[in-house]
Amino acid sequence: MTDSVFKNDIFKGKVAFVTGGGSGICYGITKMLGEHGCRTVILGRRKANIEKAAAELTKSTGQKCLGIPADVRQLETLEAAVKQTVAEFGRIDFVVAGAAGNFLAPIDGLSSNAFRTVLEIDTIGTYNTFKATIPELLKTKGAFQAISATLHYKGHPLQAHVSAAKAGVDALVRVIAVEYGPRGIRANCIAPGPIAGTEGMDRLMPKEYLDAHLKQIPLQRYGRIDEIASASTYLFSPAATYVTGTTLVVDGADYHMSGSH
Ligand code: HXC
Repeated sequence: MTDSVFKNDIFKGKVAFVTGGGSGICYGITKMLGEHGCRTVILGRRKANIEKAAAELTKSTGQKCLGIPADVRQLETLEAAVKQTVAEFGRIDFVVAGAAGNFLAPIDGLSSNAFRTVLEIDTIGTYNTFKATIPELLKTKGAFQAISATLHYKGHPLQAHVSAAKAGVDALVRVIAVEYGPRGIRANCIAPGPIAGTEGMDRLMPKEYLDAHLKQIPLQRYGRIDEIASASTYLFSPAATYVTGTTLVVDGADYHMSGSH
């Protein structure tokens, strides 16, 4: 257990279901939830990777983490994973829809299928994740989080597909909050800014761009994965029981300055 500003056992007895939890930001979120007593399930497309990540998380947090192969584009794989989660842990309290696809491409370099693929992973994948977990979230009066972005707040070149997809995620989460609030479910988005050690930064951003961009970030540094995990922990915690239908931007005021990552 690392030092934490949250109580160590804040999520004792709870169960989290995290798509995209095998790496990056959602791995960090899962780890922090586990460190605070939550049992977790992570989902990803590659069986070997997701099982390896789950074994690491079990070891590092001391709470059981189950790795289940699933593709968020296929609702039935998520429904099967929900069944497996309930068989193993008995419940689902928290859901994170974090699986995302991305590559840099100009609009005329995108096929319809390429554009559709990112919408299917990000937007429809978020819908499918919520849809598959609704029955369990209703039982526990649980909470849902989607991982969004800030790049669609302004026009961001080479990211038409992702911008459209994340705008859809934001809109979907607002509707979930309104439709399911009366039934006890909260739903929020987290919009990470430039976070070091993620695919979005390491694979998609050229080093020259990153060097120049760093000076424009008001906090003068990139964010850390644990800072996004803290935001997620807060939103799931009893400190946020009246927070729903919102997007928590965690970006060092980056988008106010440049509107880009
Ligand atoms: C143009 C591309 C392309 C590229 C794929 N396609 N890469 N088009 N430029 N660089 C096209 C393919 O040609 C194909 O279209 C269509 O997209 C589907 O590709 P497939 O490889 O068949 O699909 P699939 O195997 O399902 O993979 C989809 C994928 C995914 C989106 C490429 O594997 C992926 O994104 N992986 C990376 C995951 C990732 O980095 N996640 C973190 C995202 S960070 P055609 O027409 O040829 O069939 C993030 C934060 C945002 O989201 C903020 C940071 C900037």
